[in-house]
Amino acid sequence: MRKKVSIVGAGNVGGSVAQRLAETGITDIVLADVFDGIAQGKALDLAEAGPVVGYDCHITGATLPADYSLTADSDVVVFTSGAPRKPGMSRDDLLATNQKIVVDNVTEIVRHSPNCILVMVNNPLDAMAHLAFKTAGFPKSRVVGQAGVLDTARFRTFLAMELDVSVDSVQAYVLGGHGDDMVPLVSYTTVGGIPVSRLIPADRLASIVERTRKGGQEIVDLLKSGSAYQAPAAATAQMVTSMLLDRKSILPCSTYLEGEYGIHDLFVGVPCKLGAHGVEAVMQIDLAAEELDALHRTAESVRSLVHKLGL
Ligand code: LAC
Repeated sequence: MRKKVSIVGAGNVGGSVAQRLAETGITDIVLADVFDGIAQGKALDLAEAGPVVGYDCHITGATLPADYSLTADSDVVVFTSGAPRKPGMSRDDLLATNQKIVVDNVTEIVRHSPNCILVMVNNPLDAMAHLAFKTAGFPKSRVVGQAGVLDTARFRTFLAMELDVSVDSVQAYVLGGHGDDMVPLVSYTTVGGIPVSRLIPADRLASIVERTRKGGQEIVDLLKSGSAYQAPAAATAQMVTSMLLDRKSILPCSTYLEGEYGIHDLFVGVPCKLGAHGVEAVMQIDLAAEELDALHRTAESVRSLVHKLGL
């Protein structure tokens, strides 16, 4: 039987995740939203692209809360529901609005799919993953947040632009919370196997790190209404695919840490092994003292949001 992925929130991110997953052909998809018609419309439109693109998975639209049963027995559920940022807003400004949405949705979703893996994409990301984890009561391996793949993709893009090389040749990691104090790991960044610090002067590298940290804001400011969705959706689809195919890819994801990197009881982005069981391992890598300090600082930002949620 084909795998099943439900996507809660049929906005730009949800619709784009559905498209990318449909194009893999490996999973049926339920696209769900509270606004009647939007999920059905996007689902039908995507199904009608199938004969041209060459996929034949089932893509179903669902209106919530009436159609939660259509999401039953999903292998993976992606949460993109919630308000996006507007110009001038930080991700943290979304906390109260998205809190209720996450609690209501997660409660119903896990009732219908008690064995699924939850992939959180809503902002503020790490705090929302924490909220979903506490609401679902799932083991930590089955709740994961998407951020590091996106932030790393932005870092790789800017480095490739700087050096005029393929993004494919740039290996990098961005760890930490999905906020302005995220931690691009220069010491683990290579271009064609060469440490990036040997290729780009320190001041240029510092400005690329800063642009990466503000990468989401840059898109919000350009779009003027709404936030990025192509790269976030591609990042989410890569994580979901690794789990559906049990590929065990090592990807930076927000996961619940219980002492790794000296961080306790908090979702923070670190390298994870993603397979059929969700987050199957956290990879612990040696960090320079200043990188570890930066990771701890970002963790404290996440912790203050989690406290605001009363968790
Ligand atoms: C971004 C938002 C989606 O980083 O968090 O683009």
